[in-house]
Amino acid sequence: MRSRMNIIISSGLLMTLLGSCGTSTSCPSGCSCNVNHTDCSDLNQLASLDSILDQLPFDASYLNLSNNNFTTVEPGSFSNFSDLLHLDLSRNLLSVVFPSSFSHLNKLQVLDLSENLLVRLPINLFSGLNSLTELVLRDNRLKELNPDQFKGLTELRRLDLSFNSLCSVPTHLLDGLQNLVWLSLMGNKLKTLQRTSLEPATALQQLLLDGNPWNCNCNLIPLKHWLEWIAYTGGSIDSANCSFPANLHGKDLRSIPMEMFRHCYPLYLETRNPSAAEGHQIPAGSAGDCMRQRYRPVSVRRATATVVVAGVVCGVVCVMMVVTATYGCIYAMLMAHEQQQLIEGNSQRQQPLMVAKEPEQDEKEDLMPTIGKGATECVAWMAFPPEVCV
Ligand SMILES: *[C@@H]1O[C@H](CO)[C@@H](O)[C@H](O)[C@H]1NC(C)=O
Ligand SMILES: *[C@@H]1O[C@H](CO)[C@@H](O)[C@H](O)[C@H]1NC(C)=O
Ligand SMILES: *[C@@H]1O[C@H](CO)[C@@H](O)[C@H](O)[C@H]1NC(C)=O
Ligand SMILES: *[C@@H]1O[C@H](CO)[C@@H](O)[C@H](O)[C@H]1NC(C)=O
Ligand SMILES: *[C@@H]1O[C@H](CO)[C@@H](O)[C@H](O)[C@H]1NC(C)=O
Repeated sequence: MRSRMNIIISSGLLMTLLGSCGTSTSCPSGCSCNVNHTDCSDLNQLASLDSILDQLPFDASYLNLSNNNFTTVEPGSFSNFSDLLHLDLSRNLLSVVFPSSFSHLNKLQVLDLSENLLVRLPINLFSGLNSLTELVLRDNRLKELNPDQFKGLTELRRLDLSFNSLCSVPTHLLDGLQNLVWLSLMGNKLKTLQRTSLEPATALQQLLLDGNPWNCNCNLIPLKHWLEWIAYTGGSIDSANCSFPANLHGKDLRSIPMEMFRHCYPLYLETRNPSAAEGHQIPAGSAGDCMRQRYRPVSVRRATATVVVAGVVCGVVCVMMVVTATYGCIYAMLMAHEQQQLIEGNSQRQQPLMVAKEPEQDEKEDLMPTIGKGATECVAWMAFPPEVCV
């Protein structure tokens, strides 16, 4: 018991010593400031973020400010902390941030803003963070994101947007995030997601989509194909359970057979022709436009299939014609040859030879009559002895 106390006391002393030599500024009470590593989580005091930051060593590479009641990150608050690699601001009450709140943090690799009250993010909030590999925005109140929100975060590998209130993902949100391997959209309000929004993230290996009210209608077919593709290439996706329509409720989008979406294809053909579509229930406005655009690949596939089928049918017919013609030729030749032999063996008359040669002359002009003549002759040949036939 006593030795344990001693260890605790001496380690505490060591930490204080390390803190005082490794830093340029003193460490505020409630924080622990080790070499490169400053922990000011759970401060349990009513200080503003800036008043804490003013007292902290600038050269830390790790800063934990989690679980305080900070509400605001003022512009340039972290401008003296340019060595930071890891910043944890999770579990605060942050609702106000400015475009330059995180400026000068160009070495920062991990930024954790989870469990705050962020509703909107300034467009340029992350624009200087060009070393960022992980961004955690889990558990906020984000309703929408600007398409350029993550622009320039070329090193980003993990993006956590789970448990927000996102109703949509802008088409170009992931443009340029070619290193993104992990993305969570879990627990939002997404009913639909365009495949084209995900395609720019070419390195994506893990995608979390569960806990959204997915509307598994025709619009979600491209996403279904994309998920199947990701799974096929060795990636992993959690379940994307459908909320709508009623007959697919609770079913995982990926496990629904394409047969269930068969009605989607005639719909496309009707929407292509506006006058024909008038009598049918076609979603109005932008939804209708989306649908039309999204089904274009289907029409292309259909056209290709038609061409292929037509080609195969033509090919078969051609081959059959050639075979028939060849058969006719050979048959006629054999007949002529056999006839000649028989005639030569039976008598010396010249007339039958002339008759036998006739099909050979006709061959060059027109194949069909030859075949006809050959067939007639064949029937005659079989019915009567050769002598009678000629
Ligand atoms: C502290 O950071 C510096 C520079 O980032 C690094 O060289 C050093 O190894 C780090 N020290 C510890 C104990 O992490
Ligand atoms: C932080 O806010 C919570 C409620 O949101 C409150 O219970 C807690 O006492 C606050 N802490 C401080 C240090 O003000
Ligand atoms: C920061 O501190 C909190 C509370 O002590 C802890 O739960 C969290 O894991 C810490 N963050 C990191 C990145 O270590
Ligand atoms: C950064 O450090 C300088 C010099 O120590 C100080 O004057 C300035 O107020 C600091 N800036 C912030 C935003 O804390
Ligand atoms: C989705 O379905 C899977 C398996 O059917 C289940 O484990 C999971 O809890 C479901 N998710 C939700 C949010 O209902």
